[in-house]
Amino acid sequence: MTTKADFQDRMLSLGLARVSEAAALASAKLVGKGDEKAADQAAVNAMREQLNLLDIAGVVVIGEGERDEAPMLFIGEEVGTGEGPGVDIALDPLEGTTLTAKDMPNALTVIAMGPRGSMLHAPDTYMDKLAIGPGYAEGVVSLEMTPGERVDALAAAKGCAASDITVCILERPRHEAMIAEVRAKGAAIRLITDGDVAGVMHCADPDTGIDMYMGAGGAPEGVLAAAALKCMGGQMFTRLLFRNDDEKARATKAGITDFDRIYTRDDMVTEDVIFAATGVTDGALVPGVKRELGWMTTETLIMRSKTGSVRRINYRTPVEND
Ligand code: FBP
Repeated sequence: MTTKADFQDRMLSLGLARVSEAAALASAKLVGKGDEKAADQAAVNAMREQLNLLDIAGVVVIGEGERDEAPMLFIGEEVGTGEGPGVDIALDPLEGTTLTAKDMPNALTVIAMGPRGSMLHAPDTYMDKLAIGPGYAEGVVSLEMTPGERVDALAAAKGCAASDITVCILERPRHEAMIAEVRAKGAAIRLITDGDVAGVMHCADPDTGIDMYMGAGGAPEGVLAAAALKCMGGQMFTRLLFRNDDEKARATKAGITDFDRIYTRDDMVTEDVIFAATGVTDGALVPGVKRELGWMTTETLIMRSKTGSVRRINYRTPVEND
């Protein structure tokens, strides 16, 4: 028998798709236009408007920033009609603002929803991240291992040579030593210029050919990636990185007391969640928004961790051309 909670969860996943679609449609008009800020703002406005139509008493726990920095979808903002379940929301209306501005692959709109208290309130700092897909013994790789040791351990667990492993890493000067060490093992590296939520999710999708994600990226994006992996399966290990006292103060404000803690996927996302992502530009997970004269089409991935279900929704809508 379907319980009321199940039913709400199911219906909310469809509502979440509409929220994600709206943000993608809004930012799609700015793909390739060289204006990161305008693309992000369009996505934020559209996401917030749709989110406020949902029958939820939502609180943004991962959002556009702290209240004094972000006027919309800030951390702590109450969203939804207030009539419905109390939920926490993690969102990134445009994950890959530069990818969008430059019309490069893998820009997404991303949103996750779970019961109150289900997601880590990550501060806006960097986070060291390590992720692999499903099917491996827990802890086969760890943050304590060197990048080279991780490659060896994963190759042994997969039953292949280190040279058969592909690692995804953000191309940044801070990762030069990591990249050199992984290459010295003979492994392949898929370098990405931005978008590590998609980078982590790629580990759980065999079609991408990526076995492991490692490197430092945004902490909020880390929680969103953990929500996705909770639905897709796979392991994730993270640790917050601090560059100064101000960042530590942000963490303290977010309720974090142990600055050296290693978080697993389930430490970051402690209960079942719903996750939705819509492609803005074409990517390995979902195609981007397709624009034709008078029409726009989106594809949205919706996943529920409770059931492991994955749904893809195509949405074609008439638009006035501008
Ligand atoms: P934005 O969409 O906010 O530009 O973030 C893109 C991103 O690449 C994230 O996916 C990643 O976590 C972070 O930026 C990395 O930060 P940095 O660009 O400072 O290395």
